[in-house]
Amino acid sequence: MNTKISISRSNKYKDDLIILSDKNNLGWATDFLSKSEEAFLKSAAKKEINFVFIPNVDRNVVVQFLKKGNNASYHKEDVRLAGNEILQTLSNYKVSKVEILNQCKENNALEYVEGMALGNYQFLKYFKDRKEKENPLQEIKINKSAASEKEVKDLVSVLEGTCEARDLVNEPFSFLTAPQFSKEIQKIGKASGFSVQVFDKKKIEQMKMGGILAVNLGSIDPPRFNILTWKPKNAKNKQPIVLVGKGIVYDTGGLSLKPTANSMDFMKCDMGGAATVVGAMSAISKAKLPLHVIALVPSTDNRPGLNAYAPGDVITMYDGTTVEVLNTDAEGRLVLADALHYAKKYKPELVMDFATLTGAAARAIGEDGVCFMGTADKKVKNDLEESGLDVYERLVEFPLWREYGEQMKSNIADLKNLGGPAAGMITAGKFLEHFTGGEYPWVHFDIAGPAYLKAANGYRTKEGTGVGVRLMFDFLKKYNS
Ligand code: BES
Ligand code: ZN
Ligand code: ZN
Repeated sequence: MNTKISISRSNKYKDDLIILSDKNNLGWATDFLSKSEEAFLKSAAKKEINFVFIPNVDRNVVVQFLKKGNNASYHKEDVRLAGNEILQTLSNYKVSKVEILNQCKENNALEYVEGMALGNYQFLKYFKDRKEKENPLQEIKINKSAASEKEVKDLVSVLEGTCEARDLVNEPFSFLTAPQFSKEIQKIGKASGFSVQVFDKKKIEQMKMGGILAVNLGSIDPPRFNILTWKPKNAKNKQPIVLVGKGIVYDTGGLSLKPTANSMDFMKCDMGGAATVVGAMSAISKAKLPLHVIALVPSTDNRPGLNAYAPGDVITMYDGTTVEVLNTDAEGRLVLADALHYAKKYKPELVMDFATLTGAAARAIGEDGVCFMGTADKKVKNDLEESGLDVYERLVEFPLWREYGEQMKSNIADLKNLGGPAAGMITAGKFLEHFTGGEYPWVHFDIAGPAYLKAANGYRTKEGTGVGVRLMFDFLKKYNS
C-alpha cells in the first residue's frame, strides 16, 4: 500500500489537518483555530459546500462537513467517498502528510481514512518515470482521540490486503504466470504470517486433479495448486474455514477462443478470486484473527496451445466425476471443482469460494455488488449480507434450485461444463455444488462484475479492486463458531 497510516499521539497539530465536522455544530472551532480562520469557517459553513480549505504557510486546514443520513450503510459509504474526494484538493496543494481529527458527533474517521487510502492507491510498477507519477499524499495520521491502536492495526491490515489483491490483479500475464503467482503468494505469506504449500505439476498429476490438468493442456507454463494456512494457537474454531479462489492467470477462452477486443484484453483479471482470498489471508494473519483459516488456489492460464483440451472432450475430475467439455471457456468451474473436492479432507465448518466465473454475473448486477449462492445456513448468509452492507461490498443471493442442475447433465458423461442460454451464473454454481458433495456448508461468490473496473468508481481505482477482501475480513472478524 502506498499510504502510510498511523496514530498521532500529540495534540499540537503541526501537520496539515483535516477536521471532520458536523456542519451545524462548529462549537469545537475556537479550540485551536486562529480568529481569522474561525471567522472564515463560520461564514463558509452557511454555504452549500462539502468542505472548506484554509491555506496557511505553517499548516493547511481542511474542514470536512459530513452530513448524517438515515441509512447506516449509505452513510458510511458517503464518508468513504468524501475521503476519496478530498484527495484531489490535497494533491493540488501537494500535501504529503495529513492528520485526521474527528469533531463529529458520530465518529467515522476510520471510514474516511479508508476512502482516502484506497483512492490514493496506484500501480506504477511498469512506468519508466514512476516518481513523477506518484500522488503527493504519502502519510495519514489519525489523532488518538479518533481511533484506538487496535482499530488502526485492523484497518491497516485490511487495506494492505486489499491493495495486495489489487496489485496481483493488475500484474499482466507477461509477469504473473501460475509459477510466478505462487512466488508472489509465498512473499505475501512471509510478510504477513500465513504459511504456503505449493503443489507442482508432477504432484497435481499424481493427485489426478483432472480439471486443472485439462485446462492447463494448451499452456506452456505448468499449473500450480497453492495451500495457504493461518492457524493461530488461540483459534476459536475446531474445524477450519476454507477459502477457495479461481486462479486463472489469463483466460483466452482456450480453443473456444474469446474475441480479442473487449473480452480477452482484460482477462489478466481472471485470477481475481484468487487475489481476493490471498488478500483476505494476508489481512487475517496480519491482524492475527483467532481463527483457523485455509485458502486453496488452483492456478493455470487457459490457452489454445497445440495440445489444448477441445470442445467435446470428456475428462475425469479429481473426485472421479466425468465431465463433457462443451466450451473450453467455461474453465473456471473445472479448476474450482478440484479444489472444492480437495477441501473435503479438512472437514471444514464452512467453505467460501471467490471467482470471476461468468459474464452472466456481470450482466446481472454490474459492478456495484457481488452475486452469491450456496448451501450454508441462513445465519451465515445473513451475517455475510450484513458485512456486505457495512463494508459496501453488497451481496445479492441467487437460487440453486434443482431444475438448474438438470441443464448440466450430459448424454455421454456424468456432467457437462456448459448449461443452457439462460441463468448461466446459476448453472455454473450448480456445477460447483456437485463437487462439494454436500459434505460441508458452502458459499460461492461470483465477482466477475466488480473485480475489475475499466474506469475508477470512487475509491475503487481502475483495474483490480480487491473486492471481497474487506467483506471477508469483516465477516471473519465477527465470526463466532
Ligand atoms: N473468465 C470468464 C468470465 C468473466 C467474464 C470474467 C467477464 C470477468 C468478466 C469465464 O471463464 C468465462 O469465460 N465464462 C463464460 C462461460 C460460458 C462459456 C459458459 C461466460 O461467462 O461467457
Ligand atoms: Zn473462460
Ligand atoms: Zn475464466
